[in-house]
Amino acid sequence: MHPEQAEPARIVVLISGSGSNFQAIAEACKSKEIDGEIIGVISNRPGVMGLDRAKQLDIPCSVVDHTEYSSREEFDGKLIHEIEQYGPDLVVLAGFMRILTPDFVRRFKGRLLNIHPSLLPKYKGLHTHKRAMEAGDKEHGVTVHFVSEDLDGGPNIIQAVVPILDDDSEASLKTRVQQQEHVIYPIAVKWFVEGRITMIKGDAYFDSEALPETGLQLNVN
Ligand code: GAR
Repeated sequence: MHPEQAEPARIVVLISGSGSNFQAIAEACKSKEIDGEIIGVISNRPGVMGLDRAKQLDIPCSVVDHTEYSSREEFDGKLIHEIEQYGPDLVVLAGFMRILTPDFVRRFKGRLLNIHPSLLPKYKGLHTHKRAMEAGDKEHGVTVHFVSEDLDGGPNIIQAVVPILDDDSEASLKTRVQQQEHVIYPIAVKWFVEGRITMIKGDAYFDSEALPETGLQLNVN
């Protein structure tokens, strides 16, 4: 919790699909591991599993369908409006597969987190597990970072490093990385609501100490 805050932090989560990261964070809020509450979930796609999860958890949810807007600016404008209705302390991108406009990022700067399935700055964009395997990497992983105006950019907060095994397929690697997503995203959100991580002038700090470029690293065997 932010020191001056008496109420649990207000968190809005944006999704595009399955919503497993949203659920991991929701469960950590419910068990009070995170002193926060997810007060709204917004999906840019109708009918996705993440919306069913929100309904099951009794969390208000809505759809802002990007296909109904003629420009990125118009869509993001509507999204900003929907998010602002909740008055959030934190906006969490959890598998939200949209490129955001600079206006959007500026609006929520310093309170906008994203998870990306690679050891950023490596493998921005799509098909990260396949690309790591094809490059012959021995390690892959996942990163939670503050969002800047670059695609999958912004200072890293925490990474889980996962070994690539000789007999890995893209699917098996993705599954092991996703298990770690559900570990590190709740941790990062907990730190944020406790006021332990901040972004100042484009750099991330943990307990007022500048974080390394990788963010804090968790090595998984
Ligand atoms: C997660 O694997 C997340 O890392 C990825 O989308 C998936 C969403 O899963 N995000 C990105 O690729 C962002 N560039 P979920 O809907 O089950 O949380």
